[in-house]
Amino acid sequence: MSASPSLRLHLPDETATEALAARLAPLLTDRPAPAAPDAPPGAAAGGRIHLRGDLGAGKTAFVRALLRACGIKGRIKSPSYALLESYKISNLYFYHFDFYRFSDPREWLDAGFRDLLRDDAVVLIEWPERAQGLLPAPDMEIFLAYADRGRDADLTVYTARGQAWLNVLTQTASPPGTGAPPRGGA
Ligand SMILES: Nc1ncnc2c1ncn2[C@@H]1O[C@H](COP(=O)(O)OP(=O)(O)OP(=O)(O)O)[C@@H](O)[C@H]1O
Ligand SMILES: [Mg+2]
Repeated sequence: MSASPSLRLHLPDETATEALAARLAPLLTDRPAPAAPDAPPGAAAGGRIHLRGDLGAGKTAFVRALLRACGIKGRIKSPSYALLESYKISNLYFYHFDFYRFSDPREWLDAGFRDLLRDDAVVLIEWPERAQGLLPAPDMEIFLAYADRGRDADLTVYTARGQAWLNVLTQTASPPGTGAPPRGGA
């Protein structure tokens, strides 16, 4: 089996994390072009992202930046206790899960969370490994790791939609003067 396509980026500080989130946001919220009249409204919007990495690696920081860049106003709480925080902009739903404290799969089934994993919603899941076996493959997994004072982000895609995002991110990975310095650079 061939490896899933992936991209590694170095995020030297939180501003770089926010910049990556801002590049991803329009890919999650964009509507189909007028050239596709058959597509129902909002058909292209949505997507599922799993965020992995140690405590404090920056999963919530990334999700906050992404939700802000998608246009969510007001306080964005970490769902560490509630398991889920949800938002809505026009008819697009955003679900932010954190399964760190998740223990019993019945909790998941009883709460009807599975019904929220729709292709036309933006679903962002921290600690997906705690709900292993209950979650379908995401469009993209973002693995964050401590690297010097910043973070490394490994983006891996599992669907055609994720591949389309990766193509855009790869094309715009390091615009001159604004991107991350080369790995190993000063
Ligand atoms: N690229 C970056 N470089 C350095 N620091 C960063 C970067 N991105 C985020 N941070 C900082 O790292 C911390 C990340 O905390 P955050 O709550 O997002 O972690 P988390 O992965 O969600 O942890 P948990 O597993 O507890 O949910 C914040 O203090 C944030 O300011
Ligand atoms: Mg978190």
